[in-house]
Amino acid sequence: MVSIKTVAVLGGTGNLGTHIVQELLSAGFAVTALTREGSSSTDKLPAGVEVKTVDYTSFDSLRAAFSGQDAVVSVVGTTAVGNQKIAVDAAIAAGVKRFIPSEFGINTREVRDRPIGKILAVKIGIVDYLQEKAKENPSFTWTGLTTGSFFDWGLQLGILGINPKDQTANIVDSGNEKWQASNLPQIGKGIVGILQHPDETANKYLATASFNVSQNEIIAIVEELSGSKLTVTSQSSAELRKIGEEKLAKGDYSAFLDLLRVHNYADGAGNALSEEKSANKLIELPYEDVRSTVQSWLSKAGAI
Ligand SMILES: NC(=O)c1ccc[n+]([C@@H]2O[C@H](COP(=O)([O-])OP(=O)(O)OC[C@H]3O[C@@H](n4cnc5c(N)ncnc54)[C@H](OP(=O)(O)O)[C@@H]3O)[C@@H](O)[C@H]2O)c1
Repeated sequence: MVSIKTVAVLGGTGNLGTHIVQELLSAGFAVTALTREGSSSTDKLPAGVEVKTVDYTSFDSLRAAFSGQDAVVSVVGTTAVGNQKIAVDAAIAAGVKRFIPSEFGINTREVRDRPIGKILAVKIGIVDYLQEKAKENPSFTWTGLTTGSFFDWGLQLGILGINPKDQTANIVDSGNEKWQASNLPQIGKGIVGILQHPDETANKYLATASFNVSQNEIIAIVEELSGSKLTVTSQSSAELRKIGEEKLAKGDYSAFLDLLRVHNYADGAGNALSEEKSANKLIELPYEDVRSTVQSWLSKAGAI
């Protein structure tokens, strides 16, 4: 039975990474945050974490930093996901037992042949590479994690289309489609759950969620808690898909947000996480409550 006690986190200073570092520390893992030379974000790291500087493009620098680590969790930002191949090679050379790549979004295993899969090609390639490397090195394992949308983060940034300040909402199609969503601390707990269940999670691509939710459900909760009606506008998924695909044809990767909205919200999209596909039970990760998440967001935003 594999035991994981020491964990190196790449990108631990980021939006999601800080939550992963915090949850790993709270669960008793010895955590080392690896950060780029000159990173201005190390003040975001909680007390109790060791901090080491690495050169993400150097095999030797990464191998030295991974020495003595049981697991590497990569939470590098989207622009840096291509650097992970060298990190995988360095992890194997350092004797790391488990590598978790920077996935944390839609299930990239299922979109390889779709337009959105073109934008996610680098992430898809890293999981392919991990599969190949784990076959060659049986003591090296990996786990991928799809979490769906960052829900608390998305609400705060307004990218879920709900704006309680100006009392508006923009939905896709009917707004009734449910999709997979996760709060950032919950994803941190999911990483803890994976590393506490190393045998059950080895060489698997897993899916977890805080909950499945629809745009109309969020709107109903906002209206109930704030006591005001939102002005709701709707866009058709066919129109959004066309906009996204036209942008993509011109090499404009801002298409991602359009195609992501179609992926999640279009009527019939079918991207809610089914109980059958969910790994929440496997890693003992409880589901969360949509209403209390929305309530906490409204309260912090001063909207209730
Ligand atoms: N599901 C969703 O809704 C959703 C939303 C956003 C992101 N994501 C995914 O979640 C993962 C983490 O995203 P995030 O938003 O947490 O990441 P982020 O905050 O943008 O970046 C995380 C860290 O990556 C490090 N980094 C290394 N090389 C970098 C480079 N070349 N440019 C910029 N940063 C670099 C930085 O750490 P140092 O400065 O310490 O080196 C940074 O703090 C990614 O896979 C992303 O695609 C999912």
